[in-house]
Amino acid sequence: MKLEVKNICCIGAGYVGGPTMAVIADKCPHIQINVVDLNEQRIALWNSSDLSKLPIYEPGLDEIIERCRGRNLHFSSDIEKNIAKSDMVFISVNTPTKTKGVGAGKASDLKWIDACARQIAKFANGKTIVVEKSTLPVKTAQTVKKILDESEDNTKGNKKFKQFSVLSNPEFLAEGNAVDDLVNPDRVLIGGNDSESINILENIYLSWIDKSKIIKTNLWSSELSKLVANAFLAQRISSINSISALCEATGADINDVALAIGTDKRIGKYFLNPGPGFGGSCFKKDILNLTYICDYYGLKEVSAYWQKVIDINNWQNKRISEMVVEKLFGTITSKKIAILGFSFKSNTNDIRESPAINICKELMIEGCDLHIYDPKVNFEQIVSVIGESKSDLNKDNSHIINEGTWTFAKTVYSAADGADAIIITTEWSEFINIDWKMLSSLLRRPSWVFDTRSIVDTEYIESLGINVWRVGLGN
Ligand code: UDX
Ligand code: UDX
Repeated sequence: MKLEVKNICCIGAGYVGGPTMAVIADKCPHIQINVVDLNEQRIALWNSSDLSKLPIYEPGLDEIIERCRGRNLHFSSDIEKNIAKSDMVFISVNTPTKTKGVGAGKASDLKWIDACARQIAKFANGKTIVVEKSTLPVKTAQTVKKILDESEDNTKGNKKFKQFSVLSNPEFLAEGNAVDDLVNPDRVLIGGNDSESINILENIYLSWIDKSKIIKTNLWSSELSKLVANAFLAQRISSINSISALCEATGADINDVALAIGTDKRIGKYFLNPGPGFGGSCFKKDILNLTYICDYYGLKEVSAYWQKVIDINNWQNKRISEMVVEKLFGTITSKKIAILGFSFKSNTNDIRESPAINICKELMIEGCDLHIYDPKVNFEQIVSVIGESKSDLNKDNSHIINEGTWTFAKTVYSAADGADAIIITTEWSEFINIDWKMLSSLLRRPSWVFDTRSIVDTEYIESLGINVWRVGLGN
């Protein structure tokens, strides 16, 4: 087998495939990379000459795309041709939680992975290294290998004429920080049984990453490590959020507690920010998947332990909307509330599992008038998860959740104009720098700021005559 990879194909031009391939292309100009996707509209956006139209917002990504696109990075819908000419194929398609059938609500839906394996089996030539980039249940590589080896495109008269090696190479990039996470990763994990293929993949990363950061394991350890890394990260957030409620009840301040415990090297200071609950496409899905695997192997106690991480997350999210209603005198019917932030965290336009979604839905059930502002999330994205707003429906009220309505705001100040309350749901830096003096003149009194991300100066805002609730701050 050639030790040098010349052509890579990545199936899936999403939040993971797009940035990952862009960074590999940037660091390895000798490799031609084709990112393919079923979704032609998404591919068109990746190819758009206006870089502000890229389908994914990631700081620094546009510059890399500008440097590499057309040189050794290409986006296309021609899946067959690009698989056929590649020595290495990354699978980077989505693996959502199953909504029906066996394992519904917990297991990952592997239909796209199955479909990709069949496409690769059909169109690949000679020897191909297949790399699992998507987060997958333990032992998926086995399934992928079986499909590749035993597909009818590869077995004629019991003779195999294509060779495949399957590796697991999970991504650890956090959205909003993807480029930096890819350029300076804490580690790169490669799982596999075939040392030659592992070395070939390692060789690509060695173009810019120190050898000491590359961890090689067997396939199952690699697949499991990805799920466990996300479960541990999510567990820290549920831990700090549970303590935020205790701080509110007892008069402590979660920021002080986080600082005090985080300076202990064994605990560490990262991932101790309280919030409205974790969101994003990975944490919930991966923990559900972990609990499903534990149940499958009869480990009920282990499964119940990890399930609690999700339970606390749901509870934290729900207690925020309940508390807003309570503070606004038990009714928010027809009151105007500004929602600042709709993405699941700052520096991304991704709204998957965003805590803002449920908070908005719960408040609309109570009949309020939401004005939603986010620096990067667009109107259509919000419609896709909470339905159309009354003002856009022209009398057809079918999508309105009870009596509530919502309006898309273009600035913080228009969202807040005349509002009874402001809820900060995402920690965008724009919200850290709000001109509260000017905003205070726009609000209807008595007015409230609910800071679910613990980013505002409560004393200053209170000095302007506004009531403030901040997550994890007791009175
Ligand atoms: C990632 C990971 O790959 C997944 O394992 C993780 O658990 C969630 O995050 P992500 O890149 O965020 O997925 O998903 P998404 O942005 O939805 O992109 C996946 C792309 O794959 C979509 O554009 C979809 O159109 C494409 N796709 C899906 C294909 O091209 N072919 C398929 O057969 C299925
Ligand atoms: C995560 C993992 O960090 C990454 O390694 C993995 O590959 C994919 O899943 P991502 O979901 O993009 O990345 O974002 P992350 O920064 O982990 O945040 C997840 C959620 O936790 C967000 O809603 C965020 O706001 C929340 N969070 C994070 C907190 O509430 N407090 C924190 O201290 C950190």
